[in-house]
Amino acid sequence: MLHRIETSQLELGMFIDDIEASWLESPFWRSRLVLTREEQIEALVAKDIQWVTIDDNKGKGLPSSREPRANAAKSQNSEKRGHIAQPARAVKRRAPSHSQPYIPPPGEQRFTRLTPRERAAEVRKAKGAIKRSRTAVMNLFQDARLGNAVKSKKMATLIEQIANSVAIDPTIILNIARLKTKDEYTYLHSVAVSALMINLARKLRFPEAQIPDIGMAGLLHDVGKISIPDSILLKPGKLDEQEWTTVRLHPQKGHEILLASDGVCDMALEVCLRHHEKMDGTGYPGRLDGDDLSLITRMASICDVYDAITSQRPYNKPQSASQALKTMQSCSGHFDQLILRDFAESLGIVPIGTLVRMDRAELAVVIGESPSDYAAPIVRTFRALDSDLPIVPQDIDTGRKRSRKVISIEDPDDWGFADWSTVSADLLAEEDLT
Ligand SMILES: [Fe+2]
Repeated sequence: MLHRIETSQLELGMFIDDIEASWLESPFWRSRLVLTREEQIEALVAKDIQWVTIDDNKGKGLPSSREPRANAAKSQNSEKRGHIAQPARAVKRRAPSHSQPYIPPPGEQRFTRLTPRERAAEVRKAKGAIKRSRTAVMNLFQDARLGNAVKSKKMATLIEQIANSVAIDPTIILNIARLKTKDEYTYLHSVAVSALMINLARKLRFPEAQIPDIGMAGLLHDVGKISIPDSILLKPGKLDEQEWTTVRLHPQKGHEILLASDGVCDMALEVCLRHHEKMDGTGYPGRLDGDDLSLITRMASICDVYDAITSQRPYNKPQSASQALKTMQSCSGHFDQLILRDFAESLGIVPIGTLVRMDRAELAVVIGESPSDYAAPIVRTFRALDSDLPIVPQDIDTGRKRSRKVISIEDPDDWGFADWSTVSADLLAEEDLT
């Protein structure tokens, strides 16, 4: 039987059947899971998610005590204010039973809702900010090339403009910064990493007072690339071992430049030196492992690689956002996977091959993202929930067709897909159906 209870009443061993939050708010990739660790419960409470539904056929039953464990004081206070905590009660199954009409949860607006005219104005502003940032970063790198100290004060206005644009909608500035020519790659990459780090930092609830330092860390992380000759930096083919040795020196070279400059914050120094370290200790220059990597370094590593593989490079084609996320998820030794999940959520990206539930009671697989908005997935529907039967697959671009929405990310096990990787590969292999 299903029971709707408060998250403060959760206990280890319970099976969560439904979380009353959008998938962007949920701390988990999957919407159904068994609670095996205290951190899972803490993550739900930390996200201010109040209600969940548990299934006592699949896990532990109702809590032994009605008094919330962690939030007892909070609960008492709310009762004093006139809010009576609702007791646990049985609820009807909503999914995957298909006899109930599907009721989508309240929609969530990821970022500021803009009218087309307001969005056009923001795009113009972002283009201006990027143009100025590109010039400023080029000058900054030029100064460093000539042996002059980096003038960090000049960056403050630029970082403020990037931070303001990201606060309204990060997709605006990132969609523009993604289009880089090979000559301007390093400069626009710095702007993009700065924007990505600011956006991720806000998702992770960094104090707003730290945003300028985080933006600076992103802008300066690759300043050491001035030490790499263009013949290597822009080489269309694969690098030989000697060329790789030169490339691997850029974190230390950059660090030396920044140490000799005034006003460079500690975060920028750290990120510059450590952004190519990996969680499994196989990165460079220090081969530090996860225990020795700071949060800001882990964030920078994700933002750096994401922008690199979603941008046009001399030696490979850009990946889509959802494809890039899938690639990065498979690199478990490289990235902090928990931060990677927050990163995906901060941009609203769903990896290719993910099983999702659509607003009109259909299951679908993510096959890419909208060309106009990389945070809007293109999905391929394949099963109706009301009839529980396969349907003729249809491709839906949720960026173009705003009336259609992804409601939640689903766990394939809960829908009987014992071998989802094969099923999703078959679905992805279908020809374009749009
Ligand atoms: Fe780098």
